[in-house]
Amino acid sequence: MGRKFANILGTVGNTPIVRIGKLAPPEANLFVKIEAFNPLGSVKDRLALGVIEEAERSGKLNPGQTVIEATSGNTGIGLAMVCAQKGYPLVVTMAESFSIERRKLMRFFGAKVVLTPAAERGVGMVNKAIELAEAHGWFLTRQFENEANPDMHSRTTAREIVADFEGEPLDYWVTGFGTGGALKGVARVLAKERPDTKIVVCEPEDAPMLTSGIKQERKADGSPAAAHPAFKPHPMQGWSPDFIPKLTGDAVDMGVIDRILTITGADAMHWSKQLAQREGIFVGITAGATFAGALRICEEAPKGSTVLCMLPDTGERYLSTPLFADVAVDMTNEELEISRSTPSSRLEPAA
Ligand SMILES: Cc1ncc(COP(=O)(O)O)c(C=O)c1O
Repeated sequence: MGRKFANILGTVGNTPIVRIGKLAPPEANLFVKIEAFNPLGSVKDRLALGVIEEAERSGKLNPGQTVIEATSGNTGIGLAMVCAQKGYPLVVTMAESFSIERRKLMRFFGAKVVLTPAAERGVGMVNKAIELAEAHGWFLTRQFENEANPDMHSRTTAREIVADFEGEPLDYWVTGFGTGGALKGVARVLAKERPDTKIVVCEPEDAPMLTSGIKQERKADGSPAAAHPAFKPHPMQGWSPDFIPKLTGDAVDMGVIDRILTITGADAMHWSKQLAQREGIFVGITAGATFAGALRICEEAPKGSTVLCMLPDTGERYLSTPLFADVAVDMTNEELEISRSTPSSRLEPAA
């Protein structure tokens, strides 16, 4: 059946849940929610639409006003789409260490990308965005503290999950955190409406901030006062900035998290690749990481358990990252052999 929309923004959300047939242990019912089906390919399209429409409703954002945010990419890309469609100029601050295709994508939508020094990490790009917003009177979306972020997830992501598992068991919901918007927004709905569902949060083994139990120092507005002592750089772009965001801290304080798992970068990349090669599901590094956590739950949980794993974004965003490092550009020996097995149109490597 066809689906018609008034504009692209109507296509945000309602992402499919797909059963994992081959990679899951035989007695587990493992499902994934594929956020790459959002129009710009990530879970952050939800946040972008949610925060802009709430700001319009509350009068915090005026027609034609510039929007600004600090983002490692997916939020900026989602905002670039929403701002382009609605006619707001967008400025994004981003640490220079994030992938090149993310910058280019935002600029393709007409956004301005202001790079910040890699050494200053997440805190540096957040401070730059705050400073620019104050200096120019721009609307700062504040993805790490803005309640419109989890509210959107409570209204959309959580409702979709509850509807898709209505009348069926759902024993575990597995997620990671970037802002914690999905975590806070979905977990609070599941805690109320599906108390049978355990909430599992994954984080990088190199940055075990939640596992450490060490509280995040914050300013009065909830933004980080300093980097978290348990943070070390990790390859899961979009997960765990160098501080525990307020929205993530809220979910911890609400007592809705049942388990916290740590995942290695190598496992994240391995499972991202396995999802592509064995299940035909093309997703990024944090998706591979969340999937690694979901598999661990499948192995430890009682037989027959149903597990739902969030897959936050598309793999296409990682072509220039270590995820694709061992993917060849030129023909491999195996490919050359195939080429040489028939006479026509052979391309031999340059001598
Ligand atoms: C690739 C990727 N994975 C996971 C997440 C986590 O989403 P959330 O901000 O809702 O915690 C994000 C967003 O930060 C992301 O960009």
